Amino acid sequence: MTWNDNLKIGIPAIDTQHKMLCDMTDNFLDACKSGKGRQEIVNLISFLEQYTIRHFHDEEIVQKQSGYPKFEEHKAIHEAFIKKVQELKEEIIRDGASIVTVGKINSIVVDWLLNHIKKEDQELGRYINKK
Ligand SMILES: [Fe+2]
Repeated sequence: MTWNDNLKIGIPAIDTQHKMLCDMTDNFLDACKSGKGRQEIVNLISFLEQYTIRHFHDEEIVQKQSGYPKFEEHKAIHEAFIKKVQELKEEIIRDGASIVTVGKINSIVVDWLLNHIKKEDQELGRYINKK
């Protein structure tokens, strides 16, 4: 999931974190595709999970401070995503990573991140930059 300027939301600190999330997702995906050991893959998804939690927290602070009207709705979307990543992590801890995992990462993580950034986060960016 290559980072490109179309994914920018116009809040530099958040854009930097989004780029980092894309890079971390790629590392995780590559490790699964190249058949790295279970522990290494679990470490990569744990790292991604922790970074995502921190990123969502930072993004929610921006929303709260600006009085963003969709704060609660957006927070619930973030929480649902964290839950899915945690479920995927549990599954990898239990069963290891396979070709099925690669498909799940693409749909659960990659597609979600791209859609969320382009939809909810860019909407937030427009709101902040209009103020
Ligand atoms: Fe978001």
